[in-house]
Amino acid sequence: MIKKCLFPAAGYGTRFLPATKAMPKEMLPVVNKPLIQYGVEEALDAGLTEISIVTGRGKRALEDHFDISYELENQIKGTDKEKYLVGIRKLLDECSFSYTRQTEMKGLGHAILTGRPLIGDEPFAVVLADDLCVNLEGDGVLTQMVKLYKQYRCTIVAIQEVDPQETQKYGVIAGDLIGDDLYRVRNMVEKPKPEDAPSNLAIIGRYILTPDIFKLIEETEPGKGGEIQITDALMKQAQDGCVIAYKFKGTRFDCGGAEGYIEATNFCFEHFYKTGKAY
Ligand code: G1P
Repeated sequence: MIKKCLFPAAGYGTRFLPATKAMPKEMLPVVNKPLIQYGVEEALDAGLTEISIVTGRGKRALEDHFDISYELENQIKGTDKEKYLVGIRKLLDECSFSYTRQTEMKGLGHAILTGRPLIGDEPFAVVLADDLCVNLEGDGVLTQMVKLYKQYRCTIVAIQEVDPQETQKYGVIAGDLIGDDLYRVRNMVEKPKPEDAPSNLAIIGRYILTPDIFKLIEETEPGKGGEIQITDALMKQAQDGCVIAYKFKGTRFDCGGAEGYIEATNFCFEHFYKTGKAY
């Protein structure tokens, strides 16, 4: 089954400058945990234990985070501060981490293609760590998607309804309803103007992709913004009926911008930190 989860994490995080000048945006803390750790925890919850991260220049802190800090361990051993490291130790014990570098920023499609040597020829999940997803009611978003993959064996993208004026921020789909909150995708457009959008169903940063996507990305010409867009490659899969869009259960915070980041911070403080579930 699916074991691998790819994290494209080479982007500059310009919307958070100057904080992201010397620090990867994926390391921005939401209360006490870096953004990417929430994503890795969601992956592990879904049974995805092989974590692959596409990094870039200036991103070494990511590798250090998912490693043991002997000095720190030694310092707090036997004290009540040990509890702060329980969560991250669990990730180190139960997951493997591998890295590759994207040397040029040519779009999300290109970032995913850069991860190909780490993934090989098997289905895999993709998490955009900027999108922090939580579901207090039950399964995490990736767990929901892995269950669907077992049933449908094709590419799955997570979607949510957005304000029709906001379509320019997202890949937007149109499809036929085939079940509860499930659409077989007919059309998808990267960041359309509201008047050109096929719907208000926007793709968020959770995907399960079948490995034929790599060849389709290779064949994809630069699209919106001159970048190689995953949405364009997915559209080719969709033409064969092989892409399902899923309106997930839970909440997604767009931590790529200040507003969503603050909302996520307040939410995590309230529901995880204050309740002692933050480690
Ligand atoms: C990327 C994708 C877009 C998707 C979005 C989700 O855009 O290109 O299709 O809707 O992630 O967060 P980005 O936010 O990287 O510009």
